[in-house]
Amino acid sequence: MTTIAVSNTVSKHKVRKVTLTHHDGTQRIVTVTDRETPFPKGKLLISHTDTEGKLTYVNPLLAHVSGYKEAELIGNPHYVFRHPDMPASVFKDLWKTILGGHIWQGPVKCLRKDGGFFWCDVTVTPNTRKGKLLGYISVRHELSREEIREFEDHYAALRLN
Ligand SMILES: Cc1cc2nc3c(=O)[nH]c(=O)nc-3n(C[C@H](O)[C@H](O)[C@H](O)COP(=O)(O)O)c2cc1C
Repeated sequence: MTTIAVSNTVSKHKVRKVTLTHHDGTQRIVTVTDRETPFPKGKLLISHTDTEGKLTYVNPLLAHVSGYKEAELIGNPHYVFRHPDMPASVFKDLWKTILGGHIWQGPVKCLRKDGGFFWCDVTVTPNTRKGKLLGYISVRHELSREEIREFEDHYAALRLN
């Protein structure tokens, strides 16, 4: 992942362009801003994926908070929400855990379509029926400001390693 430009906009929000390289080799240049979308109080953001992590369902609120239309998300890999501030090791741990048939839970900073972000506490559960893996289900809860501050620091330290 390479930051290719940093600049200030005329608005109060900082903007940078970042090249993201995903695990499947896909590269995309994303515009990232420091504008946060607050997590809707008392609500849940839900998505379902197939076994490879391609979205098969999003609840309307996840589409709304991420700035996409539901139809734009379905069929796309979950990495559409990948924020460059997230260390790759977090997602390695996520996939190792769920591929082992276990539940993963952790704070994730997600990228919005417009380059802004939202934080959430993500729980990913393997979705199995009669012993067969059908995909994964994720449920996102709100994090406290204190938890967000803690994980901003923790993830910044992980990125340096
Ligand atoms: C059910 C499920 C939910 C996920 N939710 C998110 C999410 O909200 N944000 C995110 O960045 N990655 C999420 N991931 C992880 C992505 O699949 C992916 O590993 C991550 O975005 C990094 O992708 P990359 O290494 O290809 O760039 C989720 C994965 C699964 C299986």
